[in-house]
Amino acid sequence: MPGSCYNRQVICISMPKMWCYTLVWINFCIVSSAILDPVDFLALQSVRKSLRDVSGSDFFESWDFTSDPCNFAGVYCDSDKVIALNLGDPRAGSPGLTGRIDPAIGKLSSLAEFTIVPGRVMGQIPETVSQLSKLRFFAVSRNFFSGQIPASFGQLSGLHTLDLSYNQLTGSIPRPLSTLPSLSNLILCHNHLTGPVPSFLSRTLTRVDLMYNNLSGSLSLNSLPPSVQYLSLAKNKLTGPVNGILKKLNRMNYLDLSMNRFTGVIPREIFSFPITNLQLQRNLFFGPVQPDDQVMIPTVDLSYNRLSGGVSPAFSTVQNLYLNNNRFAGQVPASFVDRLLDATIQTLYLQHNYLTGIDINPTAEIPPSSSLCLQYNCMVLPVQTSCPLKAGTQKTRPTAQCVQWKG
Ligand SMILES: *[C@@H]1O[C@H](CO)[C@@H](O)[C@H](O)[C@H]1NC(C)=O
Repeated sequence: MPGSCYNRQVICISMPKMWCYTLVWINFCIVSSAILDPVDFLALQSVRKSLRDVSGSDFFESWDFTSDPCNFAGVYCDSDKVIALNLGDPRAGSPGLTGRIDPAIGKLSSLAEFTIVPGRVMGQIPETVSQLSKLRFFAVSRNFFSGQIPASFGQLSGLHTLDLSYNQLTGSIPRPLSTLPSLSNLILCHNHLTGPVPSFLSRTLTRVDLMYNNLSGSLSLNSLPPSVQYLSLAKNKLTGPVNGILKKLNRMNYLDLSMNRFTGVIPREIFSFPITNLQLQRNLFFGPVQPDDQVMIPTVDLSYNRLSGGVSPAFSTVQNLYLNNNRFAGQVPASFVDRLLDATIQTLYLQHNYLTGIDINPTAEIPPSSSLCLQYNCMVLPVQTSCPLKAGTQKTRPTAQCVQWKG
């Protein structure tokens, strides 16, 4: 019988021999909790057989199947069932595991949590994972998993966190995944996923990180619920306007849509959301940006878009502001100069626009901790500015272009 009776000795120690046997039997029958379910025992053996330590890791050293598997490193049981499997040495710098996940994992019927540390585990994510009806947490980031995300994951009705980031997954995000009612964290960044972002139905979705894939198409108005706090779709091929959907995500504290082909206007509402980092650079956003109130977001990057109109003084409270490579025109508001000189602005990148002036005393000393770049605008540079190399060497935009824009 697998998972033999480990508690036997403990119970017997202080007992006379005869009693002991009786007690052992009672113990065996009543407190069967200590004996791992044979189905789980065999499944664990299969999982073990298809994985091994990368040289330099000794995670599986404690996995000796002649003793209680519930005492193995990374195995957690509740009564006779495995409820959590955390495979690999979690310490930083551990080289991790290699091999594959055996489909027998699907037999661990009470498994709620499954993780593998970063390493070299490869192959497909077995379909059988979708039989784990109690599964809440599945995280196998930074390995070499390939193939598609099983569509049958849509059956994991209790799934809360799915982290498959930094693997080699292909195909699209299975639509059934978007119907999971309890999904809170979906982390699929750094794979090779294609196709659209489906509309998520979970009302508790909090973190969505799909950065660095090849997702395409546009977001629908109901793609994401208002519960979303962290959203990164950066570095994909997404298109279309997002103003309608963004307006509704008013709990957002991190937003990165950079390096896509999003169009339309940037809704003014988002500037009053509790965001700490706003990254909308390198898209096709156009039109003016006029926040209603002073912007309290520490970092705002709107560079490399097609934004136009004046630079709003509401942005002068931003510590790191990137408005470069747009079509902003007019005078830079005086509030920026004040905050630049008292060093509350650290970065103010305004290069490559059509700005016509900034009211700054030519002898004013910009604090060494602050960077102001004004290059390639429709003004003669009033002060020496510190620009990134990419801004080029041309200090002023050709007059012909500026005349056109003034009109
Ligand atoms: C996206 O697709 C392009 C061209 O098909 C490919 O070169 C690139 O590696 C892909 N990127 C990712 C993250 O899969």
